[in-house]
Amino acid sequence: MANFQQEIEKHQADTMDREVFGTRLGFVLAAVGSAVGLGNMWRFSYTAAEGGGAAFVFLYIVLTLLIGIPIMLAEMAAGRAGRLSPIGALKKAGGPAWAPMGFVYVSAGLLILSYYSVIAGWVVRYSFQAITGGFPADAGAYFGEISAGPTAALFHLGFMVVTILIVTKGVEKGIERASSIMMPALFVILVGLAIWASTLDGAGEGYAYYLTPSWSDILDGPTFASAAAQAFFSLSLGMGAMLTFASYLSKDENLNREAAVISLADFGVAFIAGLVVFPIVFALGLQNDVSESTVGALFIALPGAFASMPAGRIVGSLFFLALLVGAVTSAISLLEVVVASVIDEFGWERKKAALAAGSLIAVLGLASAWDTDILGLIDAIAGELLLMIGGLGMAILVGYVWKDARTELERGATPLFRALLPIVFFFLRFVAPPIVIFVIYDRLLNVLNVIQTSF
Ligand code: PFF
Repeated sequence: MANFQQEIEKHQADTMDREVFGTRLGFVLAAVGSAVGLGNMWRFSYTAAEGGGAAFVFLYIVLTLLIGIPIMLAEMAAGRAGRLSPIGALKKAGGPAWAPMGFVYVSAGLLILSYYSVIAGWVVRYSFQAITGGFPADAGAYFGEISAGPTAALFHLGFMVVTILIVTKGVEKGIERASSIMMPALFVILVGLAIWASTLDGAGEGYAYYLTPSWSDILDGPTFASAAAQAFFSLSLGMGAMLTFASYLSKDENLNREAAVISLADFGVAFIAGLVVFPIVFALGLQNDVSESTVGALFIALPGAFASMPAGRIVGSLFFLALLVGAVTSAISLLEVVVASVIDEFGWERKKAALAAGSLIAVLGLASAWDTDILGLIDAIAGELLLMIGGLGMAILVGYVWKDARTELERGATPLFRALLPIVFFFLRFVAPPIVIFVIYDRLLNVLNVIQTSF
């Protein structure tokens, strides 16, 4: 009886101290907001173009099902059970030896936001440009001018200020509210753009390229690795974003339904973005520009296309606005991981934590704003390698170490999902680790390659 009483008191204390999402939909939209971002529109189209179009899309879907969703579930279970941000939640689930993995998560968040915000700054710049004067005809030269140096730094800092302001307002009034307005808006704009793109002359060819698989690419190691890395980045896995958001959930929330909705929405947006990008690219014969470089597709090929199309200015403004919305809601989640960790570990007040963490990230980001080679390197290290290492840690923790994992995953789950749980555990134990280790090896080689070619 005394024990029971203690349990109730502990539960009340837990729920009183910690902020919570106001509604279930609020959580889902915030998590979708985290997942849907520059990764869906900036990275997905060019990695898909590089990886043989539909073959890549197919791999991407398979990898999302095999490792993405199980790891997302693992993260959410650890966060909801621990009611703490990564460092504390990992310690609670696996013991003190897991604290360093928590640090890897927080460092990944910090580093990713430092360059993510620079790219978001470019997006802000392009949005202004589109709305006020239209896109310049020579998009390549324009991009060269604005992508690095003082203006890039200025727009990066401006973007960080907005992100800090939203996170300062807290989970319900800041993160939930922002995502609830922005996510539906993004979706509507993107669907509108896809309909418009379908009317273009090259649409058929674009779809054919996007949706006809070249199956030989599926067996290609680097394509496989880049599809896995893209799935992690796009689903915000491997650095505790989903874990942190789930720590603001009530204990009996249905995690399997949420994970399915989040993954589907994330894939849906990436896929629809492809339906916008490829018809435009083929309408203007820009195939080679797209797969040439990371930034080529979004910041050079597309604005160039918008500049030469009749309705280009309006369409382009909407496209960059949608991108900006995605970037803001993802940046919020990246900052929240760091801020929540500072709050939980040092007991700081949210405002102070947001300002301190946000300023540190803003200063770090100046390096990427100064030099796009540095941006590329940090992306290769944090955006790919660290996320995969984090994913491996999560699969091992929940698959092998954390004793209550099964009970936690069963809580609030549908009967069908309970029946499927052994499969989820099978994936976490035996499928995810070997795949992720292979990808870590591949991405490590990629980091070395980036260092060699850029520096
Ligand atoms: N998922 C985001 C995107 O696709 O743009 C980026 C991201 C956000 C990665 C949050 C990781 C993360 F924790």
